[in-house]
Amino acid sequence: MTKVSIIGAGNVGATVAQYLATKNLCDVVMLDINEGAAKGKALDLTQAIALTGGSAKITGTSDYKDTAGSQVIVITAGSPRKPGMSRDDLLKINASIVAGAARQSHRHSPNAIFVVVSNPLDIMAYLVWKETGVSTSRVIGMAGVLDSARFQSFIAEELKVSAEDVRAMVLGGHGDLMVPLPRFSTVNGVPITELISKKKIDAMCKRTANGGAEIVNHLKTGSAWYAPGAATAAMVEAIITGGRKLYPCSVHTGEKHGLPAVFTGLPVVIGKRGVERVIKLKLNKDEIAALQASAKSIEENVKRLNELQAEAAKPAAEAALSAAPAAPPADASTKATDTSAKS
Ligand code: NAI
Ligand code: 2OP
Repeated sequence: MTKVSIIGAGNVGATVAQYLATKNLCDVVMLDINEGAAKGKALDLTQAIALTGGSAKITGTSDYKDTAGSQVIVITAGSPRKPGMSRDDLLKINASIVAGAARQSHRHSPNAIFVVVSNPLDIMAYLVWKETGVSTSRVIGMAGVLDSARFQSFIAEELKVSAEDVRAMVLGGHGDLMVPLPRFSTVNGVPITELISKKKIDAMCKRTANGGAEIVNHLKTGSAWYAPGAATAAMVEAIITGGRKLYPCSVHTGEKHGLPAVFTGLPVVIGKRGVERVIKLKLNKDEIAALQASAKSIEENVKRLNELQAEAAKPAAEAALSAAPAAPPADASTKATDTSAKS
């Protein structure tokens, strides 16, 4: 069976595992720094599918060796923002967790496709790409599927129609500047701009952009996981089954669309090779401006990430320099080279 490893067996990671296992799509390895949590949840899920059916093997571990040969690696490891923590603090903490997770899982599964979930999403997707050096088609950030599902549910509620009949499109970064696209959101093909007033659509777009925070405000101690888990599992399913699904995902812009070279939400077809195709929509002036503003803010955060990583690397580089033996005088060094050349 196909093997999918999920790094981070917290709320989102365990929910992704549950969806995949219940659908009997693949064997699942859940890896967490907290080995007990990964092992306990894997056992619990194994016992659940004894009731729901399926033959997926679910394993919990803290050892990357157990992830070897995965077709897909899902990265959900990270820390949520805690009181008193700045965005920079969170960026720094999650960057080091996600970079480590990306490097280690890539070492054991060199052909895997990465689905990135950890926040800040678009920056972490960029980081996974940078750390692994894989092609841009093999790194896909999960956000647009979730944000679109939120928009879909608000549209369905407003129109009192089945949410299944609603298709919505939210592009741009996973943050305040995300770009819901009412012109590309429909109820069975009918654009919502024909069905709902502009004022109500604007309010729904705002609620969508605030969708994660609305849930955090209720929960108080964490963020959403059911819809994020379902959205991530849908992406993984499209990859392992070669589903060729058109989803909004955070992908490398390739500097197309007049956007800076960052990861941001664009409509893509995903399948066996990861990103099979980026779709270029005919956006109007306002939509392009909104997408560019969102990408610009991602670009600034990527710059900040690079600065933070350079600052963090400095003490290690300085320590290495001061630990190194003093350089020998020039003639001695020449002699040393000569000797080794002879030997
Ligand atoms: P959580 O706190 O329940 O789980 C995170 C897990 O990561 C914990 O089990 C923790 O032990 C583990 N972990 C921490 N450091 C690790 C390391 N070095 N190696 C392996 N595991 C490690 O958090 P939750 O709710 O599951 O969220 C996970 C991440 O996903 C967060 O960054 C959150 O902001 C993000 N998220 C992103 C969404 C999106 O739309 N892209 C939606 C929902 C959450
Ligand atoms: C969400 O949108 C926190 O990014 C997470 O629910």
